[in-house]
Amino acid sequence: MATATVETTESSGAKQDWVQFETSIDYGKSEYKYASYLPHYVPGKQSPLIEFEHQDVGLRADPEKKALLNAPGAVFEEITPAIGTEVRDLQLSALTSQQKDELALLAAERGVLVFKDQDFADIGKDRQKEFGAHFGPLHVHQHGGQTKGYPELLPVYRDFTAGAVDNEIKNNVSSIKWHTDMSYEINGMGTTIFFCLSTPKSGGDTLYLSTTAAYENLSEDYRRRLHGLYATHSGFEQAKVADHKERYIRDPIETVHPVVRTHPVTKKNSLYVNRLYTRRIQNYKEEESASILNFLYNHIEHGQDWHIRVHWTPGTVVVYDNRNTQHSALRDFNVREGETRRHMLRITPQAERPFFDPKAEESAAQKPASSTTEPSGNQPN
Ligand code: SIN
Repeated sequence: MATATVETTESSGAKQDWVQFETSIDYGKSEYKYASYLPHYVPGKQSPLIEFEHQDVGLRADPEKKALLNAPGAVFEEITPAIGTEVRDLQLSALTSQQKDELALLAAERGVLVFKDQDFADIGKDRQKEFGAHFGPLHVHQHGGQTKGYPELLPVYRDFTAGAVDNEIKNNVSSIKWHTDMSYEINGMGTTIFFCLSTPKSGGDTLYLSTTAAYENLSEDYRRRLHGLYATHSGFEQAKVADHKERYIRDPIETVHPVVRTHPVTKKNSLYVNRLYTRRIQNYKEEESASILNFLYNHIEHGQDWHIRVHWTPGTVVVYDNRNTQHSALRDFNVREGETRRHMLRITPQAERPFFDPKAEESAAQKPASSTTEPSGNQPN
């Protein structure tokens, strides 16, 4: 096993200590193209995140998304009616600012966009960070590993030794952990970029679901019953699975968010509770809260009508809207010591503080369940 070491770098005139993570693979000996993206940790604490106003770039996008959907040669194909569009022959790295705004709108409408054969993993950290920052201030995880010098580029890494995933799932019958990223933060997460650097040949897929479709498939009366409810979301349990407490860079927090949230761009409502981070409905007794939350978790997680599964191949990049989707990694692959790794990278722009607009329901109630916004762009041959 490679042991942890402390390295010091100078950045903007300030000295910074980085703790190298532990891994079963000896990167000192082996050539690994993405070694500079391996997780590191910065000892020391940062101040809590402060709430800020967010104006989503999707709001200034052309509603028809012509610059994006009519990009020469690009192919957009719906994966299922409720969620997901696969995109081919269009490089994210070449998008103009206008196209990025339209990308945010398309991600808000479709939940998940799966881009194939991208050069994104190889454009360099500055450009990756700049791309993500187009959509909002980039989040830095409360205790996750960091790409050295780029704390906003979050490695999601697993090999025989490394990764908190097994701590999370060791007492569970499967590796499924549906969640919205860091829903315990005050500002929620927005248009998020997630891509693979190295994956096992088989397994390690990511599951996604639409919480808008889950909301829209409830009866109107049940939806109304949820309006105006608020629930606590907690970062404490996630912090507990980190095996090294000194790696916290911020103390965990709890935040109250609406159970139904309205998307600022599409104005659609979606369910905003998840099994990993939501804890309790405000002002309800324990059993009352548990009965509603358990119903909602089961409803969200079991409606295959609004689920997709993304298999990672080299060059796959997913752009997803963290406001109206949930996802779960699959830790279903065999990990061979010193050999197998799953190495992903996430860039997570923050968005508005989740809110509920009671007027949005009026228009949502008139729409058919699972209504879709089908891209009008180029179709495959
Ligand atoms: C995550 O749960 O945020 C990462 C998903 C994955 O590793 O597939």
